[in-house]
Amino acid sequence: MDPGETIAALERERERGLAVIREAASLEALRDAEVAILGRRAPVPSIQRSLGDVPPEERPALGRAINEVFEALREALAERERELRAEREGAVAEADAIDVTLPGRRLPMGALHVLTQTERAMVDAFVALGYRVMEGPEVETDWYNFEALNIPPDHPARTVQDTLYLDVPDAPDLLLRTQTSPMQIKAMEVQPPPLYVVVPGRTYRNDTLDATHSPVFHQVEGLAVDEGLSLADMKGTLEAWARAMFSADQRVRLRPDYFPFVEPGAQVDVSCFACDGSGCRICGNGWLEIMGAGMVHPKVLENGGVDPERYTGYAWGIGVERVAMLRHGIPDIRLFYEGDVRFLEQFAGGTV
Ligand code: PHE
Repeated sequence: MDPGETIAALERERERGLAVIREAASLEALRDAEVAILGRRAPVPSIQRSLGDVPPEERPALGRAINEVFEALREALAERERELRAEREGAVAEADAIDVTLPGRRLPMGALHVLTQTERAMVDAFVALGYRVMEGPEVETDWYNFEALNIPPDHPARTVQDTLYLDVPDAPDLLLRTQTSPMQIKAMEVQPPPLYVVVPGRTYRNDTLDATHSPVFHQVEGLAVDEGLSLADMKGTLEAWARAMFSADQRVRLRPDYFPFVEPGAQVDVSCFACDGSGCRICGNGWLEIMGAGMVHPKVLENGGVDPERYTGYAWGIGVERVAMLRHGIPDIRLFYEGDVRFLEQFAGGTV
């Protein structure tokens, strides 16, 4: 064979072989391709075998050309094999994969209790007016809960019916506070006037549980002590608070009432937000009673270490349950304490 023709044939075989290798779609197909290209009867090995028939002076060049073609084909085979193996491994991994993107089982989300939400909203509205927050113990002494608040020993509030006393040896006057008002004294003890504080907290009374009474309930106490404070300041404060809590055109009215620790004392009503004061099923007469309040009694200021000749003060105590019931139209106080999620989850959106 003419050496030029042989070189051309080798070139053709190289191109053909590379094409066959490229097209092998599986490892099995590649094995077949290898046999077809490099097997005993394949063209390039045949040309190699016929090298003996070539004149000696032409052998080296032809031999080099043959080796080059072999090398190119072996390289292409190895490269294609790597590709096909990687593809197969990928396919296996894909087939074996566990799909972890399936939706998981959702745990129910917790939320603040509606009383906590209400208490925080009440406190926040006072904080916005400049009041600071204090908290105090639920176990109190007779002095702080009654005596210092000018509640005489024969006052009905002290009788065993109302107050839950603790049976602690050597501490006969310990009780569960019946109101947050003992914190009025404690606030004055730790902070000289000007003093503006709110005290949220849990309170206890020996009441039988019914739709409107619970032996455990909550109050938000408020106390302001400063020079020159008047009942008008108190009313303005409580009106501003009521407008933040209920609605922008809320009105507030004071009716005379008696608490031993204030003089004068008042029952504070807010205009009914459902009927705006005209009278409806919720309010009856257009007004909602929501707290007791009044000007701090001089004796109470004295008991807190404040000079009643120089300072005056006002105080209030608001029932948290009552506010929550009014705001949300809740008919029965027991719902707050039964822990029924069907009730509680209705307030799960509140993040106050
Ligand atoms: N402590 C009173 C109560 O529990 C409420 C109150 C607080 C009244 C402060 C006047 C001033 O009923």
